[in-house]
Amino acid sequence: MNLPYAEPFRIKMVEEIRQSTRAERESWLQKANYNLFNLKSSQVFIDLLTDSGTGAMSDQQWGALMTGDESYAGSRSFEALHDTVKNITGYQYLLPTHQGRAAENVLFSVLVKDGDIVPGNSHFDTTKGHIEIRKAHAVDCTIDEAFDVENLHPFKGNIDLQKLEDVYKTYPKEKIPFCLITITCNSSGGQPVSIENIRAVKELSDRYGIPIYFDSARFAENAYFIKQREKGQENRTIKEIAKEVFSYGAGMTMSSKKDGLVNIGGFIALNDENIYRAASNFTIIYEGFITYGGMAGRDMAALAVGLTEATEFPYLESRISQVEYLGNKLIEYGIPVQKPIGGHAVFIDSLKFLPQVARAEFPAQTLANEIYLEAGIRTVEIGTLLADRDPDTRENRYPKLELVRLAIPRRTYTNNHMDYIAAAVKNVYERRNEITKGYSIMWEPDILRHFTVQLGKA
Ligand code: F0G
Repeated sequence: MNLPYAEPFRIKMVEEIRQSTRAERESWLQKANYNLFNLKSSQVFIDLLTDSGTGAMSDQQWGALMTGDESYAGSRSFEALHDTVKNITGYQYLLPTHQGRAAENVLFSVLVKDGDIVPGNSHFDTTKGHIEIRKAHAVDCTIDEAFDVENLHPFKGNIDLQKLEDVYKTYPKEKIPFCLITITCNSSGGQPVSIENIRAVKELSDRYGIPIYFDSARFAENAYFIKQREKGQENRTIKEIAKEVFSYGAGMTMSSKKDGLVNIGGFIALNDENIYRAASNFTIIYEGFITYGGMAGRDMAALAVGLTEATEFPYLESRISQVEYLGNKLIEYGIPVQKPIGGHAVFIDSLKFLPQVARAEFPAQTLANEIYLEAGIRTVEIGTLLADRDPDTRENRYPKLELVRLAIPRRTYTNNHMDYIAAAVKNVYERRNEITKGYSIMWEPDILRHFTVQLGKA
């Protein structure tokens, strides 16, 4: 008999979670104004809101925490982190920040100006926010295949070279501070970018004199997909692949809450001394002195270990095969999901799941709420609520896809939890024809409405 797969870790500490009754959940959801962000974590059984900062640290990371050096300047923990980042990325300069969007804020304060154009592959919301708040524009150059959930393209995070070249031809070089490649691409479903595409983007960008930066939140997961799916890459280590990828960039921003395997943190790494010096000033203003940038020494110590662990194959195999396990179960039950299954989450296509719910009544939010009522599982809407209103017309913006994201925290749940989640979604799927009405907005803020919007039954 072939031995089945088993995780390359055992569990040393557990945290109790409790299931509730349907009646309790109905009352809590109503009090939360039908917005899952307003629930208390104690009202949630399995929390798939995000994979960001919600994973489990290893014994080595908890051990490193005790060795943290809390010196304001020049701490040993900064040195350890700097050595690790240099080793993994090849970049010489490091500026820690308190999380990923803070790294964007610091770097973009140096690089992005009023009227600039920043092409890339479906920029993450905060990234786009940090571009737009500077009156610059993010241009999405993702390949069209990414927007067809059934298309099995192995690298749906790829940049369309024609779309990118159009941007380079349309705007003068001075208006394009950089091209941003997000690895893996969260906004298009945790989809990877191939090394071949990154090389081609580099070659094209060099011809126009435009540097590349990486939004690297899930860079290790991206390297895993390259190793698994790309010809000629199968015998390389994750660290070798990641280093080659980073070699094509001028620098990176990082949310350490993902592939850093820590609960809080971020950083910028880059090679240009002048940009580093300018970014250092913004780090001091916004984050803290340049050797801690908003992080405790102990958190930098744990991050140094986390980055090393996250770039090891056995860890990545267990991580990504668990997400795939859940995705395959949902596919087996006939549930429409984004394919291939992404690195950190499974995305349910709610336009196919609930075609009878009007788009103006938020089908993805409706489905997310039904999954919560069914089994106490918290997911997140990636659809019309998230897409906000058009700033000029104040009309709803209807994105191409209306998704519910089931983000899987790292090393946190077992495959029994995955079975439970899949069964809950299946139950909702079986009674989908009874769900005919969605929600309407009772109150919303001017921007970023999905976090605080208050809904009522439509
Ligand atoms: N870039 C990407 C690709 C992200 O997914 C995120 C965060 C950030 C940048 C910002 O990093 O949260 O540390 O400030 N994504 C989280 C999510 C919030 O749930 O996908 P941060």
